[in-house]
Amino acid sequence: MSKSSPNPQRDGFTTALGVIAATLGSAVGLGNIWKFPSLTGTNGGASFLFIYIISTLLVGLPVMISELMMGRAARADAVTTLQKLAPRKQPWWLAAALGVLAAFLIMAFYTEVAGWVFAYIFKSLGGGLLSTDPQVTSEAFTALITDPWQSLIWQWVVLAVVGAIILLGVSKGIEGATKRLMPILFVILLVLCVRSLTLPGAGEGLAFLFKPDLTKLSAAAVLTAMGLAFFKLSVGMGTMITYGSYFREDQNVPKTAAQVMLADLTVSILAGIAIFPAVFSFGFEPTAGPSLLFITIPAVFAAMPLGNVFMVLFFLLAAIAATGAMLSLMEVPVAFLNERTGLSRKAATLITVGLLALIGSTAALSSSTLANFKPFGLNMCNCSGW
Ligand code: PHE
Repeated sequence: MSKSSPNPQRDGFTTALGVIAATLGSAVGLGNIWKFPSLTGTNGGASFLFIYIISTLLVGLPVMISELMMGRAARADAVTTLQKLAPRKQPWWLAAALGVLAAFLIMAFYTEVAGWVFAYIFKSLGGGLLSTDPQVTSEAFTALITDPWQSLIWQWVVLAVVGAIILLGVSKGIEGATKRLMPILFVILLVLCVRSLTLPGAGEGLAFLFKPDLTKLSAAAVLTAMGLAFFKLSVGMGTMITYGSYFREDQNVPKTAAQVMLADLTVSILAGIAIFPAVFSFGFEPTAGPSLLFITIPAVFAAMPLGNVFMVLFFLLAAIAATGAMLSLMEVPVAFLNERTGLSRKAATLITVGLLALIGSTAALSSSTLANFKPFGLNMCNCSGW
């Protein structure tokens, strides 16, 4: 294959730091703040973390390097990349087409969960979520997800924010936003870790996170850890192929991928440090699963001094993380439409946002208007149980 010649017309990341910020922005997401802690909590703590680290190193990282390299070699959207690189016209582009569809469908429910996170920033500002009784925080969460208008409107707010950044383009929009957001994310995370670690009895939470009990390991937990490694590093959906296509020619791909992987792992572990010591300190259960974020955490914050300040910070952190991930999820179909159909970036973005609002509404309404709509016996989005 000939060496790629970058198309000067094509937008891309402009600085080495920008590449890291954008790629890390994609990897860091609700996966770190929600999925990782809830899965670690339900799968026995440290032993799950151990398997997850091994899966990330052995499976996640190599796939990430390959995807980024493919994108950079072809300098095109995910489908065109596989079409260009496949030997003898083999139909590998079909795998990328599925990736574009997967990124779109993930985005359809991710925007809903992100909508709850955005809503929680404002709700915690008002102090309405503060109660040490998980029964009360659970009712507050149920009230939000069963209200069709609140669910839809918060999803639209998320789509508008992400769509507006995508409209600005790859360098000005994605790179510009993530370069500003990622440092803020780390500062908030560190503040929350210090808060959690200085609570009485914090050691128990740390032991849960770092002292492996290998008897708790099951085959199912190993499979879950591998799935998490894929989801965390945003691989298998054309995301890293698309971002790789915006990498600078002089960017060292394996080194960048390793740095992003390490930083992403650090964010997950710090999120665990911010959450588990506090959960144990106030006598809550770490095994709540997905409701950990929206039901247990508010109750934990309510139990500490200045709880609502820390709660606002916590949900701001989750919102920033989710935004970076959503930028990369939306960029996949936008780049595809833009480069394959000749639509302008603006038109491609508006169409993607419109379709996401339409298809995503089935996720937003899955706990209210569409609660009883169950094709094949399945709810449209088991978002709160994800
Ligand atoms: N990595 C993101 C997270 O942890 C999710 C994601 C998956 C983003 C796939 C892009 C593609 O939340």
